[in-house]
Amino acid sequence: MTKQNYRGLYHFSPKEKWMNDPNGMVYFKGEYHLFFQHHPKGLTWGTMHWGHAVTKDLVTWEELEIALAPDEFGTIFSGSAVVDWHNTTGFFEEEPGLVAIFTHHLEVPGSPLVETQSLAYSKDRGRTWTKHEGNPVLKHDSYLDFRDPKVFWHYETERWIMILACGQTVCLYHSPDLKSWTFGSEFGAGIGFHGGVWECPDLFPLNVDGDASRQKWILLVSIGDDPAYAEGSRTQYFTGNFDGLTFTPDQESNTVRWLDHGRDNYAGVSWSDIPREDGRRLFIGWMSNWKYANLTPAEGFRGAMTLPRELKLQTGKDGGITLVQKPVQELESARVPVLALANVTGAEAVQALGSLQLDSYELNVVIPSGSSLAFKVRTAGLEETVVGVNGVRGELYVDRTKSGLHDFHEQFRGVHTAKLQSPGESIDLHIYVDRSSVEVFANGGQAVITDLIYPDAESKGISLAADDDGLVLASLTVYALSPSAK
Ligand code: FRU
Repeated sequence: MTKQNYRGLYHFSPKEKWMNDPNGMVYFKGEYHLFFQHHPKGLTWGTMHWGHAVTKDLVTWEELEIALAPDEFGTIFSGSAVVDWHNTTGFFEEEPGLVAIFTHHLEVPGSPLVETQSLAYSKDRGRTWTKHEGNPVLKHDSYLDFRDPKVFWHYETERWIMILACGQTVCLYHSPDLKSWTFGSEFGAGIGFHGGVWECPDLFPLNVDGDASRQKWILLVSIGDDPAYAEGSRTQYFTGNFDGLTFTPDQESNTVRWLDHGRDNYAGVSWSDIPREDGRRLFIGWMSNWKYANLTPAEGFRGAMTLPRELKLQTGKDGGITLVQKPVQELESARVPVLALANVTGAEAVQALGSLQLDSYELNVVIPSGSSLAFKVRTAGLEETVVGVNGVRGELYVDRTKSGLHDFHEQFRGVHTAKLQSPGESIDLHIYVDRSSVEVFANGGQAVITDLIYPDAESKGISLAADDDGLVLASLTVYALSPSAK
């Protein structure tokens, strides 16, 4: 057996070979499904299939058989899945089942590339899939990039809506039955960031500060890598309104808002059909970046997902509305308490952390606003990943310049920062460290940095540096995270 130091202990990664985007996330009959872009024969991107995994608790995952394989219409690119509760498709005479809506990507030497949208359905909880006979269900004459359909039921107009990437914009279509689609509108020209191809959109409502009378629509869109930008591929979001036909953004055309300020959260979208009594908007992203995704250290598999996260809309102190995210609460069930301190000085915290040796854990801290401190995680010798707050600049940062292997790509090393928006009296940091990643959530998830790291398996130290000797940490807790603790 190969030794897999880089397989996250509490992050989903495929058993073998290559994985990129999460696809077809849908909740049905007690299971959260996660399909994924998968090259079952290669450790790099290649002939795309939909791999498949399920989880009942958002913590432990079971990988199942490949769900969708290429056919005469092409390979299977990204897309979504829904429950057809009312048999709008006619696929489900007996009981509701799942429909996947995905892109067929066809490359024939000597011909232009063709991307079309197709359907497959499952009557056995996603275990086996039948491709729809009328595939493809949506084509376009002029867009070469026409892909990644995300479909949802729009209650007000009682029809299905599809949002998909069409070149440098997103297009919105609607349908009564998932089979025949009518163009509604296009969004994106002249607004937001365009330094890369638009991919993997999502559109969903969220209540502002949990208040149902103040609902807004969120449009997520991932932007592909462009050599002109060091950041590589990343995801931007817009807030606005959606009337069943057109998305109208709140923000000015030149405002760009990023979902994550690290380098490794791409192509993420949200789960469909989360029960209304739960009401959460759950998200997962691919924890990599097209700038170097094919080059990262790999041992039998390549690719991992971010933690599943809950998305919310929050009004900040300045009145602006921000998309905030935090890991799903279910992860608490994997906690094994290691350290819990309250009102400790920096020196006491340094001492308490000094004896720990951990590779997969959660570290939470609350400090006064304006203070600066830096945790060093996954350390040994000269190796360290620094997660810190710069009180003077009002910034959260992750420094992975000395985090371990990096020479697979010259732009991997770096320091990534996120502005802390007008914090209150204190700042809280939730740091999730795993065998090849750090995910940091500050101020209740207002500032987020997700970064891959490739430390030595033995780099398990934790330390703390504070600028101010008098700094008092209101609380400091560490939990080992072990899904088997459940
Ligand atoms: C995003 C993406 C999608 C496409 C898929 C192919 O990472 O480029 O646009 O459907 O990956 O694997």
